[in-house]
Amino acid sequence: MSTLSASGATAKPATTKISWGKTPDGEQVYLYTLTNKNGLEAAISTYGGAVVSLKVPDRDGKLADVVLGYDSLDGYVNDKSYFGAIIGRYANRIGHAEFTLDGKTYKLAKNNGENTLHGGIKGFNKAVWTAKEIRAKDGQALELTYLSKDGEEGFPGNLHVRVIYTLNDANELKIDYSATTDKNTVVNLTNHSYFNLSGAGSGDILGDILMIEADKFTPVDSGLIPTAELRDVAGTPFDFRKPTAIGARINEDNEQLKLAGGYDHNFVLRRKPGAPISLAARVVDPKRGRVLEVWTDQPGMQFYTGNFLDGSAHGKGGIAYTKRSAFCLETQHFPDSPNKPSFPSTELKPGERYHTTTIYKFSTEK
Ligand code: BGC
Repeated sequence: MSTLSASGATAKPATTKISWGKTPDGEQVYLYTLTNKNGLEAAISTYGGAVVSLKVPDRDGKLADVVLGYDSLDGYVNDKSYFGAIIGRYANRIGHAEFTLDGKTYKLAKNNGENTLHGGIKGFNKAVWTAKEIRAKDGQALELTYLSKDGEEGFPGNLHVRVIYTLNDANELKIDYSATTDKNTVVNLTNHSYFNLSGAGSGDILGDILMIEADKFTPVDSGLIPTAELRDVAGTPFDFRKPTAIGARINEDNEQLKLAGGYDHNFVLRRKPGAPISLAARVVDPKRGRVLEVWTDQPGMQFYTGNFLDGSAHGKGGIAYTKRSAFCLETQHFPDSPNKPSFPSTELKPGERYHTTTIYKFSTEK
């Protein structure tokens, strides 16, 4: 594996900041661009903490932007697909938009049928985050903070959230999430980047070769809420333990694929015993040779094949983003954990600190 530089040139690692306009409420938004010495670039908006563009080289050193998104703030304000955003307070679904903690039932905002998806009607993806460039020993770093107030979208406790994006010279975009609370609550944070390794808007991702380090996944009901079963991937289209084209089995007559219109499932990640962080997935784009590895300390990862993209979202350059024109690999706790006692707990108590790290690492193959 090689860490390529764009056309072999050495860029000057830097962070720049520009004004990106105002939200309809008049809040000022900024766009920061982190550049590493190989010329990779990650642009991050303080609106939703979204990764707006991510330029990485292909096997010939040619840069392309590999994440879906919009050219301007407007797009993100109106967005319904969560392109690139930080997701919280609870990423993924909570069944029937409620959960019980310490004997008290909390009613949440319903924004996905009967359920809560990605934090509710106004999740962290619609918040304006406070940004600060910070010193990192291993790259260009940006700290984003946000206070999610007690009762926001129905969740208990004032939650102080901090997300640090670091772009290092090993061509890794590292995301460190942390949070503290003043009341018992539940937390599940992720990033919702939609990747197309040939470049955003350049067709479907069905030919990409995917490996997922998971022996089991969590099957869902018709509302895409896990049934609580951990099902073996062996012998199913969910077996990506050996690298397999994303599209090889996506249209098979499989109940789970039909319920979600493709892949939209949480995988139970294998952990390397003792290691702080493990490889969760590896994707190769045979067309341009770009390789993405996902490393995390989280127990799960939602693999979503953009089944609900229907061409109505017009992204960068006005291109319509169609079904399966990107994939998401959202590292996380399992969906609906607050209602599934058998799943790893997502509770956070006062005095504790939620902390988790995910790395998106780019390289190339011939
Ligand atoms: C979910 C999909 C949802 C998408 C965004 C994914 O994380 O799993 O079901 O449609 O986010 O809208």
